[in-house]
Amino acid sequence: MELRHLRYFVAVVEEQSFTKAAEKLFIAQPPLSRQIQNLETEMGALLFERGSRPLKPTAVGYFFYQQAVKLLASADQMKSITMREGIIKKTMTIGFGGSLLYGLLPRVVYLFRQQQPYLKIKLVQMNAMEQIDALKEGRIDASFGRVRISDPAIKRILLREEPLMVAVHSSHALAAKKQGVKLEEIVEEHVLLYPKLPKPSFSAQMKGLFSEYGLEPKNLTVVDDIQLALGLAAAGEGLCIVPESAKTVQFKHLNYIPILDDDAVSPVFLIIRNADHSEYIRSLLDSVYQVYDLEAIKYDRQIF
Ligand code: BEZ
Repeated sequence: MELRHLRYFVAVVEEQSFTKAAEKLFIAQPPLSRQIQNLETEMGALLFERGSRPLKPTAVGYFFYQQAVKLLASADQMKSITMREGIIKKTMTIGFGGSLLYGLLPRVVYLFRQQQPYLKIKLVQMNAMEQIDALKEGRIDASFGRVRISDPAIKRILLREEPLMVAVHSSHALAAKKQGVKLEEIVEEHVLLYPKLPKPSFSAQMKGLFSEYGLEPKNLTVVDDIQLALGLAAAGEGLCIVPESAKTVQFKHLNYIPILDDDAVSPVFLIIRNADHSEYIRSLLDSVYQVYDLEAIKYDRQIF
């Protein structure tokens, strides 16, 4: 006796007819009747009252029906729990550039976790070059970063161009320009950028941005990371250029002022292996767009 025989039997009892049960099971009636006869032979018992219309199980047939229903339910439960446990064991490791932690990364990943409850998600902070190496070596499955690094094995999906801001102590003259400042107003100041290493980096991108406008900051300090740059700006040591989302980092007397030049933006990329078309990547991208929609952030939806 196999589980399918029990399913056939249960369908006949519930439909009270071989014809209707055969339709429900998408099989022809003669093989269904044969399977039920085989079952009766195997059990050595009549399971249906002969000649009853509608078809009725015998007393022992009804007992067999109740046991069959329990067994099938338990088999279905066993299958679904096993499948779920199997999925839980899948892990997705996501790399990210440190500064993204201050922006939408936590919200995107939290939403992604809700949408993939059986997926184990691990986050690892990495610089831009490490992200590319880790993707190629299969140590991570996707990463979020800002730096344009080309590699034939890697695909960069542009999520958005995030506006830049300048972080400045409230006592500084530029802090009063709430509407925004131009790069040419910053260039003579002590400019704090990050990170120091490795190249290419956000600091290199910012130097490139100044030179796009024919400007070169003379008094420039590149520090290890965004926390240090913002902390120094809050201490009045200089001005720090950061993506808009960094304004979630609040220091007393630190003001964030928009940079008005058109190209004063920093890209945010989802970076994946070229040949990766997995459902999880699609779902991660969807989570990003859902957060953008909630935050009314402008973006061009990329087809994946
Ligand atoms: C964003 O700021 O656009 C962003 C940050 C991390 C992950 C996805 C998007």
